[in-house]
Amino acid sequence: MKFFVDTANLSQIQEAHDLGILDGVTTNPSLMAKEGITGEQAVLDHYAKICDIVDGDVSAEVISTDFEGMIKEGEILSEIAPNIVVKVPMIQEGIKAISYFTRKGIRTNCTLVFSAGQAILAAKAGATYVSPFIGRIDDISWDGMQLIKDIAEIYAVQLFDTEILAASVRNPLHIVDSAKNGADVVTCPLNAILGLLNHPLTDIGLAKFLADHKKANG
Ligand code: G3P
Repeated sequence: MKFFVDTANLSQIQEAHDLGILDGVTTNPSLMAKEGITGEQAVLDHYAKICDIVDGDVSAEVISTDFEGMIKEGEILSEIAPNIVVKVPMIQEGIKAISYFTRKGIRTNCTLVFSAGQAILAAKAGATYVSPFIGRIDDISWDGMQLIKDIAEIYAVQLFDTEILAASVRNPLHIVDSAKNGADVVTCPLNAILGLLNHPLTDIGLAKFLADHKKANG
């Protein structure tokens, strides 16, 4: 399973990259706004900075909701760097745009996916990635992980090439369960990745090793 970091924060992207386990980055308009990146050129420049740090795929989201607007934006975004993946919302015009980008050889990430039916459409349109938002499903007391299982089963039976990118991942257990249930990629905040490190027995064990070493060696 690939690890993407879900942020537009350059220092967090650098920190995840420095771990040596980072396969890519996802962003969205909310994450860009959170970093104070506003205005068309500033957004494009920011994506270029992210692509300078990361070799893997970087999802850059369109903000248009009509086909022509998405095409125009997507073509500009895809020219920033070869690792840009154009992120397109799961709406009718979005599916049309993904189909267009597929024909043009521009890679896409179909975002805001909340059902297996939507995931089938994204795959039919040729999306490179489909992004089911598991945390937001859990937020309304449905089962986000069940959606990952359902999509994984359907894509395996139907031999779809689209990669399942578990998104809206909030914690380390979401990462572990995504791995168990067939996600190809998980995208999450840096703190969810760092949370995987934690185990009290590791801390206790390390303290004991160091104390024993000190006792023996002075
Ligand atoms: O990858 C999608 C993500 O940015 C949404 O996460 O936590 O806002 O639901 P969240």
